[in-house]
Amino acid sequence: MPQGAGGAGAPRHVAIIMDGNGRWARERGWPRLVGHRRGAERVKQVVRACPDMGVEWLTIYAFSTENWRRSREEVVGLMGLFARYIRKEADELSKEGVRMRFIGDRSQLDRRLRDLMTGIEHRTAANTRLNLTVAINYGGRDEIVRAARRLAREVAAGRLAPDEIDFAALAAGLDTVGQPDPDLVIRTSGELRSSNFLPWQAAYSEYEFTPTLWPDFSPEELQQILARFAARERRFGGAKTR
Ligand code: FPP
Repeated sequence: MPQGAGGAGAPRHVAIIMDGNGRWARERGWPRLVGHRRGAERVKQVVRACPDMGVEWLTIYAFSTENWRRSREEVVGLMGLFARYIRKEADELSKEGVRMRFIGDRSQLDRRLRDLMTGIEHRTAANTRLNLTVAINYGGRDEIVRAARRLAREVAAGRLAPDEIDFAALAAGLDTVGQPDPDLVIRTSGELRSSNFLPWQAAYSEYEFTPTLWPDFSPEELQQILARFAARERRFGGAKTR
């Protein structure tokens, strides 16, 4: 999409908080996991649609550091869904030029899931059509604390002076190192919160909220949201230009 009349144009990086799977299932009297399964189908469709909409980076929130508080059945079901998605989609994603990465603290994840994650990261590392980042056991504050600890260790070892710590030094310790900041963050299901998703990286992102529950979200709705984004004027703290 061309950048017209001072508008923001197409967002290069879209991040999505996929919310509402549980409510979607409850409305139908089904177990929550059915909603998550339907949500995974939506992930596939949205991933496939992104490149033609000019989106080069897509980051999705699949499991937060707080989601461990859910029932064991739901947590185990979600972990199984992530593993199945990686196994089943690996060939398709590779063929379609998708590079897949993960952010979040992997140390608490099952070793088999961690192996699948590293495997697909390596297998798709040369792909360039779409960069898909999936946040699993991710919390923004947790990510910043881990980055701060890394810097503290460097200082304690005498390899870094405290005054050398700047935005770039901290960002270099985040899970998203090397990735551009999101231009647009979308949250589904009508909740108006950012819920610890990319707090550092989304400091200047635009936000869009939709009442649609994630299992009902479609590439068509994404297209409409991107059209609204294209008309926005982004200022990054500067003065109004029109
Ligand atoms: C939020 O809905 C959704 C999640 C915590 C899980 C997101 C996972 C998926 C969309 C499934 C598959 C993902 C991949 C990458 C294959 P909720 O359960 O909080 O819904 P509620 O607020 O209505 O209860």
